[in-house]
Amino acid sequence: MTKEEAAKKLQTFGQEHVLQYYDALSPAEQEELLLQIEETDFSVLSHAKDGVHAGKRGVFSPLAATTLTEIDRRRQEFHDAGVSAIKAGKTAALLLAGGMGTRLGSDNPKGMYDIGETKHVYIFQRLVENLLDVVKETDTWIRLFIMTSEKNHEATVRFFEEQNYFGYQKDRVVFFKQDMAPACDYNGKAYLEAKNRISTSPNGNGGWFSSMVRAGLDRILEEEGIEWINVFAVDNVLQRICDPCFVGATVLADVSVGAKVVKKATPDEKVGVICLEDGSPSIVEYYELSPEMMEAKDANGDPAYNYGVILNYLFHAKELTGLSDDQLALHVVEKKIPCLDSDGNPLKPSEPNGYKFEQLVLDMIHQLRTCLPYEVIREKEFAPIKNPTGVDSVESARALCKQNGITL
Ligand code: UTP
Repeated sequence: MTKEEAAKKLQTFGQEHVLQYYDALSPAEQEELLLQIEETDFSVLSHAKDGVHAGKRGVFSPLAATTLTEIDRRRQEFHDAGVSAIKAGKTAALLLAGGMGTRLGSDNPKGMYDIGETKHVYIFQRLVENLLDVVKETDTWIRLFIMTSEKNHEATVRFFEEQNYFGYQKDRVVFFKQDMAPACDYNGKAYLEAKNRISTSPNGNGGWFSSMVRAGLDRILEEEGIEWINVFAVDNVLQRICDPCFVGATVLADVSVGAKVVKKATPDEKVGVICLEDGSPSIVEYYELSPEMMEAKDANGDPAYNYGVILNYLFHAKELTGLSDDQLALHVVEKKIPCLDSDGNPLKPSEPNGYKFEQLVLDMIHQLRTCLPYEVIREKEFAPIKNPTGVDSVESARALCKQNGITL
């Protein structure tokens, strides 16, 4: 792209200031900036004018979960179906590790965080060890995809190399990068993080499938006959991955997606709750639950909106191919965005100074036909690490790991 072409593109989106330092840059830096302008989708910035707000929602109704009681009753059947799908190579795991983990406050990828006390126990290690349990049980090396972002890709790959993939078979692991979105001030003007670089941030975990396809990895799905993809977050150090019972229950139910859920701790707990919205599976955020929904009861007299999602989904791959990112809501999130001050010096703000734009995996659920919510025991499978201390923290996750017999 030439400077003139770049200027024209920027003008279309009211972002001409991006070239303000261009003439002072070296030829190599100029080239870098032009390439980034060419690759950036500035159209998202028009959403800054809407600010942070919840999108318009449809009519909610309850969606019954497969409860622990039913799972216990059908455990053998679910387990056998899951093991046979895994052994046939129909199941892959996909780790969402493209986030910035800003709340945890470490400069490294979140998965490199060491929660060990007497030895090293990295978050990535915990997840791989959990998956290795199933590899051993089924005697099958499950394909593992790892989504990173431009910001943490090299550090993540290097760490896996250094740690010898924590015992996983290296050639069964594939890394790919998710897409980035420009970040802007409150007026929708893209920030620069350097004179030759627009501030960008990962575009949310909702674009994982399209990023995977853009990286050409749908070829692996086809070649290996992978039908189900277990997508999971980096921060839940207790979750079971490609857990045979969950796989079996989802396959047998023949749904578009299975979702691991936990019973809410309290009616007003701050978790997204699985439900139907206009008849399709969906997730209602805690702040969207009306008092009537909080009090509603199912046929057994239990709360009707009672199961929170834990970001562990088993997607039927063929149901994803027709979906487009354009149909996913774009969330405007207020964040601290590294930028340049008025003298052109790099600035790391201590307070939020603008917006980044994200699409979320939970919005994908609403694009699908059917969903099986599958209950798991919170104390055994839900130990998210979002913060250094307090709720959903390193501290709380350590306590839960120990409770489950994991030596730290
Ligand atoms: P979170 O919502 O906890 O976001 O991600 P985060 O960006 O990592 O953390 P904070 O909010 O800055 O503290 C849930 C999961 O989705 C992944 C994360 O890596 C985590 O596994 N994720 C998030 C991505 O893969 N890409 C993204 O753009 C955002």
